[in-house]
Order: sequence, then C-alpha cells, then structure tokens
Amino acid sequence: MKGLVLAGGTATRLFPLTIVTNKHLLPIYDRPMIYYPLETLAGMGIREVMVIVGGKSVGDVVELLADGSHFGLDLTYRYQRGALGIAHAIGLARDFVGDDSFCVVLGDNILRGPALADVAAAFDAGAWDAGAMLYRVPDPERFGVAELGPAGEIVGFEEKPAKPKSDLIPIGVYFLRPNAFDVIEHLAPSGRGEFEITDVLNHFIPGGRLFSRVYEGHWADAGTVPSLLRAAALAEEDDQAGHLAPPPERPAG
Ligand code: DAU
Repeated sequence: MKGLVLAGGTATRLFPLTIVTNKHLLPIYDRPMIYYPLETLAGMGIREVMVIVGGKSVGDVVELLADGSHFGLDLTYRYQRGALGIAHAIGLARDFVGDDSFCVVLGDNILRGPALADVAAAFDAGAWDAGAMLYRVPDPERFGVAELGPAGEIVGFEEKPAKPKSDLIPIGVYFLRPNAFDVIEHLAPSGRGEFEITDVLNHFIPGGRLFSRVYEGHWADAGTVPSLLRAAALAEEDDQAGHLAPPPERPAG
C-alpha cells in the first residue's frame, strides 16, 4: 500500500496563526502537526508516501520533512494550486499511486491509540473499494456525518450538515484504490466550491463496496483553535502515560 498526506489548504479557521505560515507546521505539544499523520501511515507499515503541499511556507514543509528517512518513510511531494478540496488533492496522486491501494491521512488529523496496521491489511486483502475510519463526536455539524440505516449500516455521508443525522463522522483516514481517481474526475464541486471526499465515499456505498471501522483510540483534527488545543492535550496525556515516543531526529543535510 502507498500513503498520501494532504498538507495544502488555506487554514482560514486558524487565522491569524496561519496568515504567514502553513498550518501543518504549527506545534502540537512537542512536534509539528504534520509529524502525526506521517506517524499514522508509518504505523500501518506503509513506506512510500506522497505529501500534497500547498498554501503558505511550502518550502519549509519540504525542508522539515526532507526525504522522510527519519520517519522510516520514502517521501515524494506534489504541489496543489489553490484549495479545491480534499478529493481534488487526492486526484493529484494518480501517477504516484499507479496500480496500488492507498491510504490518505489528512495533515491536521491527530490519532492517539492503536496503530492501524491490521485495518490497512484487512482493506488491502479485501474486496472493498473504499474504507472510512469513523469516530463519535459531540459536534458532528463541523465534519462529514454518516447517515445510518435501520441495522446501523451506513447509507450516506453529508458534509457539514446543519442538522446532522448521527454523531458518527468519517475522520481524515481513508482507504482507496486506483478506481477512486475515475470517481474524482467526474465529481462536481459542492456548495462551498470544493471537491468533497464525502462524495467519493458515497459513490462506493451501494453494493457494499465501502468498508468502515470505528477508531478505538482518541482523535482530534487540529483545524480550529479549540481542536488544536485538544490535539496537544491528547499528545501530552499520551506522553505522561509513557506512550509518546520522542519526535524522530532529523538527519543533518
Ligand atoms: O477532519 C475530518 C474531516 O475533514 C472530515 O470529517 C470531513 O468530511 C472532511 O471534509 C474534512 O473536513 P474539514 O473541513 O475539516 O477539512 P479541511 O478543509 O480542514 O482540510 C483537511 C486537511 O486537508 C487539511 O489538513 C488541509 C488539507 N487540504 C484541504 C483542502 C481543502 C488540502 O490539502 N487541500 C485542500 O484543497
């Protein structure tokens, strides 16, 4: 499997913190935000990762992560012009992905808990076309939200609905195959002018082609000031419990 980390976007919800710098460089406890999604992918046993960069301080992101060897990863970069949405950013990785299955982690998603190696292996070996990790939150209207059928099955995802139909959201960890690129090519932009990942997931719901698992650890996105603080608190709690390895040392050069 290959990996993709999305580190573009404009991060307006964090202004003024992100007027002149890239959100993914902001500190979460003892390391830059983007270390966490890279560690999530490394924890799945994935080695080849493309980082989609865009917005501010792109050169600093590349300088920080370099070739990725300090994460045990082999990194490639691709530039996203504009902030046209998560599905648009994923679409830029078509050539990199080739014929492989792949996992996308949003650059502002902090997962603290079990590594997802088993989930990634189950998706890779299975017949599903897409996979979503789910999580229960008190404020689902800020996210994509699952609509559930009578047996608790997912019947659809809505992006930031005014009236959420459940408290179960897809977090920013998605498992996909190359056929996702054909779906992305035919997407229309949403009301907020973005190509939405929830539309990609919705495409694969009929016929049982979507795999989903509730994440059993702790999760936060770090895209708003309160969630930035919550993400740092999660990392601190983990550190105090002895579960946070020191940040990898960046080799010179
Ligand atoms: O965090 C989980 C949520 O992430 C999901 O529940 C939603 O369904 C999904 O749409 C997304 O919602 P957000 O509105 O929070 O996404 P945001 O615009 O903050 O972007 C998430 C990450 O993706 C962020 O780290 C930057 C990157 N990104 C975003 C856009 C719009 C890109 O690389 N390129 C882009 O064009």
